[in-house]
Amino acid sequence: MFSLLPLSHFLFLLSAVLAKRCDQHRTIPNHEIDWKSCSPDFNETGVSCGNLVVPLDYSDPCSIETLELKLLKVDAVRSPSKGSILLNFGGPGARGKPPLAKERELILNLTGGHHDLVTFDPRGTGDTIPFSCYGSDEERASALNASPRLSSNASDVALGRIWADGQLFAETCREAQNETGTFVGTAFVVRDMMRMVDTLDEDGMLRFWGLSYGTILGATAAAMFPKKMDKVILDAVANPLDWYANRDSDLYSDVDKAFSGFCAGCIARPKDCVLAKDNITASELEAKIYALFDDLKRNPIAVPSPSGGIILDYSMARRWMHAVLYFPLLWTNTARILHSLLTRDIQSLDGFQDILSSIFPTNNEAKFGIACSDAFGQTSNISDILPTVYARHNSSRLSGDTGEYMLMTCAQWKLPAKERFNGDFRVKTKNPMLVISTLYDPITPLTSARNVSETFDGSVLLQQDSYGHGAISQASLCTAKAVRAYFVDGKLPSPNTVCGTDAVLFSGSSGWDKVFEKLDADKE
Ligand SMILES: *[C@@H]1O[C@H](CO)[C@@H](O)[C@H](O)[C@H]1NC(C)=O
Ligand SMILES: *[C@@H]1O[C@H](CO)[C@@H](O)[C@H](O)[C@H]1NC(C)=O
Ligand SMILES: *[C@@H]1O[C@H](CO)[C@@H](O)[C@H](O)[C@H]1NC(C)=O
Ligand SMILES: *[C@@H]1O[C@H](CO)[C@@H](O)[C@H](O)[C@H]1NC(C)=O
Ligand SMILES: *[C@@H]1O[C@H](CO)[C@@H](O)[C@H](O)[C@H]1NC(C)=O
Ligand SMILES: *[C@@H]1O[C@H](CO)[C@@H](O)[C@H](O)[C@H]1NC(C)=O
Ligand SMILES: *[C@@H]1O[C@H](CO)[C@@H](O)[C@H](O)[C@H]1NC(C)=O
Ligand SMILES: *[C@@H]1O[C@H](CO)[C@@H](O)[C@H](O)[C@H]1NC(C)=O
Repeated sequence: MFSLLPLSHFLFLLSAVLAKRCDQHRTIPNHEIDWKSCSPDFNETGVSCGNLVVPLDYSDPCSIETLELKLLKVDAVRSPSKGSILLNFGGPGARGKPPLAKERELILNLTGGHHDLVTFDPRGTGDTIPFSCYGSDEERASALNASPRLSSNASDVALGRIWADGQLFAETCREAQNETGTFVGTAFVVRDMMRMVDTLDEDGMLRFWGLSYGTILGATAAAMFPKKMDKVILDAVANPLDWYANRDSDLYSDVDKAFSGFCAGCIARPKDCVLAKDNITASELEAKIYALFDDLKRNPIAVPSPSGGIILDYSMARRWMHAVLYFPLLWTNTARILHSLLTRDIQSLDGFQDILSSIFPTNNEAKFGIACSDAFGQTSNISDILPTVYARHNSSRLSGDTGEYMLMTCAQWKLPAKERFNGDFRVKTKNPMLVISTLYDPITPLTSARNVSETFDGSVLLQQDSYGHGAISQASLCTAKAVRAYFVDGKLPSPNTVCGTDAVLFSGSSGWDKVFEKLDADKE
């Protein structure tokens, strides 16, 4: 089904690397990182920035070209520091620097403040060989207008259209990124992280917290350098074998449960959920919203605005609904928007365009650059990926047909990473990993976490009975204790641990503040 070409290409690459002789040995030495305050507009106490010079092309032993990685460090709050934990918040394409301050603080708290945290702009993001396929925002906007993101079930022509859009996009990126577009894959980022570990001059071991795509990074690091793994947490886990094969059919398998939870949570707190009216039950509400989405197929809603307005159709509304399931904190407002859609109250949809642009930033080529350059299985025949498409359709009524654009773009990608990880993940790491999954994650389902935990010898899976993408979305005292025990004492939770949550849906709070207060109080 999948062309074997990529495998032979990989072997070719490998042998080419081994065969290559240089007159001049590459020497790109590690040098100490000079940590300084970050910038006038980002100057917080306990936070510093530094640069690390790494080889641009690890696969070419002759190349002396380098790349400067931008690092950010948050100091441990307890001294002495027990070393650094590297973080990656996913995307792929999430930057390591200024955004995500809240998430960093959360992880500092979760790990007990004993470690420094180090984030970085991975290749393709921020200032690190940014992966961009357009010369300007205008070009990007006009490309996007020509190819609006469709769900494949939006009509009987949508699937073919997405395939063609993906082809065009892959070609545009190939042209725009012909200089550095093949240096962005995960394997090189792993090598960058190992350089960081060595440069930080601690114990030469990797401590890591990877969320979402960060779990691909962490799993790949563990598979490539099992002996260098200290404490590694994979939270909101994607299936790494499926990732590299570009055939993940499980992505959406917990979405419908998450959506049912949204409806039940709403009914349970009528004060905070405008949809809980007239004694409607959770399952009636669910049916009503599904009917709304179907209605939008034939009767989309036009919301005019000075900047041109938006059309809320089947594709857009369901993409949005899927995206908000990542963030339970948004649900009260989500209910308000759904209410406006149900009543076709266009006036009150005023701010929706801004919400959509914050959830779906238009400049997101890094995501494709990273994911697609990792992917094997390129093909010019759409039939080759239809089994994955249909399996996804089967897996979720709400979102099973919303993710084809990425799948189909990657299937036609023309910039394979210089090094694509091609092993399996059946390794025993020096220290066992902790794998965490919530039960209702809309994009990284429990089944992937089980898969990874079964694959890595000795790792333990911790399940958290909560909503959102990653354990950090909703508080859990039980998880916080387990994470601290792991990072501070190296203790793993017992297998099959299911942690409850200390957050209440539609309460407007993630619950973490209370959990940390409690942990602090317990200590005193
Ligand atoms: C950052 O803040 C410190 C103390 O407030 C100040 O001394 C320093 O000059 C600032 N750095 C930058 C780059 O603005
Ligand atoms: C981290 O813990 C401190 C002290 O308990 C608390 O004040 C702060 O709100 C916490 N931060 C987050 C993001 O939860
Ligand atoms: C990349 O494309 C540009 C413009 O077409 C061309 O000038 C340049 O030589 C190309 N670089 C490589 C490495 O192919
Ligand atoms: C909701 O249920 C209560 C109690 O059964 C009943 O008194 C009330 O009339 C119902 N409201 C509506 C709008 O159906
Ligand atoms: C694409 O693959 C299908 C199924 O393997 C095959 O029947 C079809 O002929 C192929 N199309 C082309 C254009 O090669
Ligand atoms: C989808 O589900 C139907 C009914 O359960 C099953 O017959 C079919 O094989 C499934 N298709 C895929 C691609 O999983
Ligand atoms: C997509 O359409 C197919 C065929 O009409 C249907 O079986 C499937 O349930 C739909 N899936 C989604 C996610 O809409
Ligand atoms: C994990 O997922 C891969 C890819 O889908 C599959 O081949 C493998 O059998 C799974 N392993 C386990 C232990 O479930």
